[in-house]
Amino acid sequence: MSTAVETREIVKTFRERGSADVNVLRGVSMHAKAGSITSILGESGCGKTTLLRIIAGLETATSGAVFAGDRDITAVHPSRRQLAMVFQNYGLYPAKTVAGNIEFPLKMSGVPRAERRARALAAAEVLHIEHLLDRLPAQLSGGQRQRVGICRAIAREPEIILMDEPLSSLDAQLRIEMRSELVALQRRIGSTMITVTHDQTEAMTMSDSIVVMRGGQVEQVGSPSEVFERPQTAYVASFLGNMNLAADAANSGVEAASMFSHHAHTTLGVRPEQFMLAEYAAPEAGDLRVSGRVVRDELLGTDRVLHVEAGAAVWRARIPAAASFGERCTLVARRAHVHEFASEGGVRIDR
Ligand SMILES: Nc1ncnc2c1ncn2[C@@H]1O[C@H](COP(=O)(O)OP(=O)(O)O)[C@@H](O)[C@H]1O
Ligand SMILES: [Mg+2]
Repeated sequence: MSTAVETREIVKTFRERGSADVNVLRGVSMHAKAGSITSILGESGCGKTTLLRIIAGLETATSGAVFAGDRDITAVHPSRRQLAMVFQNYGLYPAKTVAGNIEFPLKMSGVPRAERRARALAAAEVLHIEHLLDRLPAQLSGGQRQRVGICRAIAREPEIILMDEPLSSLDAQLRIEMRSELVALQRRIGSTMITVTHDQTEAMTMSDSIVVMRGGQVEQVGSPSEVFERPQTAYVASFLGNMNLAADAANSGVEAASMFSHHAHTTLGVRPEQFMLAEYAAPEAGDLRVSGRVVRDELLGTDRVLHVEAGAAVWRARIPAAASFGERCTLVARRAHVHEFASEGGVRIDR
């Protein structure tokens, strides 16, 4: 069972006596398709947790509405929203065993003891923690605690699972494993999953849909490939994949013959991976060519990143480590890999 989730024009203003209002959400409308994984992605402080807590009903919106399917749940008590939330710090009860933690929400909603046991065990098996059921949280590693938090959420068999930075406190290797585990888990149980993250790789690898937020607003919504391949703003281009952005096309080493050199008030964007050294690229119509001086060379194993200073810009190019290059070099990007944004406001320009 799963249900779509929608927020409509959610505004959240924190008012504290004696201090200025803080406008944390400025009209957030987003949609999570039933049975899919949606990531809310954005920098720390952009309002992700606040939005998730409003969806959960743990926080009240100043205005706007939350829907589960076609049901307006804006005023519905959290316990009646058919959802479960996994908190960033897991929120386990230290004095309860793992089994006690998993069963507690079931107990609160009146599930009989035998069924609680069975559901806790089934959920524990899914997350491979059945051998930990008698332990206390303090006797677990971070990764195990995280599994218990997720287990507690799925044992409730919710239609919607909300997760706040579920992987952020795990070490790098475990984080990578847990990404695929979470996706596999969601595919198996079919709940609608909304996960909050500031980690673009996590959002890219896990999601069916990404909502990119910035300063309390939605910057772009799309599938991982849409958001990556056609960023609607310079901000998204830079946040996802760290695209090169040259704010002043006329003063960034772009060769005069190149069509892009004529575009005034334009910010040019090229991903470092999509630059080639001119020596290795047969010319094609519409190429962007920039020439400059290599000011830095970072070896990353099989690749290297050259930093090429050209006019007011420093372009980063990720090229094979074995490529040979001089002190000055010319970088080439194909027309399809050159993005343009209005210098004012940063909105994508399609020509
Ligand atoms: N209860 C609160 N009172 C005042 N300001 C708050 C409160 N909760 C969050 N904020 C502010 O709202 C902004 C967004 O917070 P949050 O939703 O936690 O962002 P994120 O999860 O994206 O890091 C931050 O500037 C934070 O300081
Ligand atoms: Mg947060």
